Amino acid sequence: MTQPSLLSRITDYANRADPYPLYAELRRTPVLHEEEGGPYVVGSYYDILGLLHDPRVSSDASNLTAAGDDDLSGPEATGLPPSFIRLDPPEHDRLRRIANSSFGPPHRPHRIDSMREELAGIVRELIDGLGETRQIDIVDEFAYPFPVTVICRLLGVPREDEPKFRGWVDPLVASLDPDTRKNADDEFQQAAQEARMQLGMYLAGLVEQRTKEPRDDMLSDLATSHGADGTMSMMEVLSTAVLLLIAGHETTVNLITNGMLTLLRHPEVLQRLREDPGLSVNIVEELLRYEPPVQLVPQRTCIADIELRGVTIPKGSRIWLVLGAGNRDPERFKDPDRFDPDREDIQHLGFGSGIHSCFGAPLARLEAQLALAELARRLENPRLVEDPPPYRRNAVLRGPRHLQVTVDGIR
Ligand code: HEM
Repeated sequence: MTQPSLLSRITDYANRADPYPLYAELRRTPVLHEEEGGPYVVGSYYDILGLLHDPRVSSDASNLTAAGDDDLSGPEATGLPPSFIRLDPPEHDRLRRIANSSFGPPHRPHRIDSMREELAGIVRELIDGLGETRQIDIVDEFAYPFPVTVICRLLGVPREDEPKFRGWVDPLVASLDPDTRKNADDEFQQAAQEARMQLGMYLAGLVEQRTKEPRDDMLSDLATSHGADGTMSMMEVLSTAVLLLIAGHETTVNLITNGMLTLLRHPEVLQRLREDPGLSVNIVEELLRYEPPVQLVPQRTCIADIELRGVTIPKGSRIWLVLGAGNRDPERFKDPDRFDPDREDIQHLGFGSGIHSCFGAPLARLEAQLALAELARRLENPRLVEDPPPYRRNAVLRGPRHLQVTVDGIR
């Protein structure tokens, strides 16, 4: 019997809990191309970094479609025009700069810094809400609700609308997982479609309101932007809002959950964090290297021939950059398979790099730091119920679907 291709083993759900030995195999072939018409897959740190900065490598949605990929994971699946994650310069840069002028420097104090207390309050409330429970699903009861609440506050969704908003976001986010979509029945499809429409109408109403009466939130800023880069159209505001909503969602859930799982597997680090919440800064950085929530970036196309280590990647080909493999590359990191929060040399690829590097990184870092420090402090004697836990099907946004933990109590 012939061995399945390495790429199909990497995406195979059976290997989701531990893809790292396969990544080591991937790094042995500088450019993996196993199938006519299939993607060119790269897993070495320096090659990935180079390609993320290479203007011959496009993120444009239309190039990807032309290369035969139906990009179902982006906000375009919502029926809106491509958001800046699926655009090349100059449009990418214009929209990102407008969004950035609301997010932080150089135009204003960092919005995220001013949210620190608010975020800490949300974390506290969620942990208080666990009550007397002795068994907790870290995903459903904490890591999943947290980012939605945060994104609501950031965009400026009124608190009383949050439950309604979440009701639309949940099926929408679920429907973006390619595997879930493949296996979805009519009822699921219809619910997702309906949620998408309702969310779009709701956001449009909110944008209209904020255009007339701006407040101190991101939707108001996006709707009323008028700097050197001009304004965003209503559709651009909506697709940016949906991008922020989605990009900051499944990713943050997985960072917190991968983080808790890793800490439970390294009790000495968990104990150190309990005693010193400041260690959360290094822990989160090392987690972004060791268990990155975005394992690979599959939405890139070559717009010219590219020579890489003796291989020609022809114009029009799709490229997959396996960030999770680059992060464990022994050519770049010493002892890469060791989780080491004391590591000093830690330029990971967890947030990508180059012009598309994660826009929400300051928020994601802060959310994960606060969440992990507070879980470490308040959960008494937490133990894993199942190791490895059941994983989400998604090979791109990788993380446990549930993380059941028993505790002696909650402080
Ligand atoms: C882009 C990771 C959280 C907004 C990216 C990229 C990665 C990434 C790897 C690069 C994608 C590419 O090159 O195509 C993560 C991780 C997160 C996280 C691991 C959490 C742990 C967030 C949050 C937000 C956000 C909280 C928003 C509030 C974005 C946006 C982009 C992006 C808008 C596109 C940037 C551009 O195209 O210029 N993220 N992200 N992300 N992320 Fe994040």
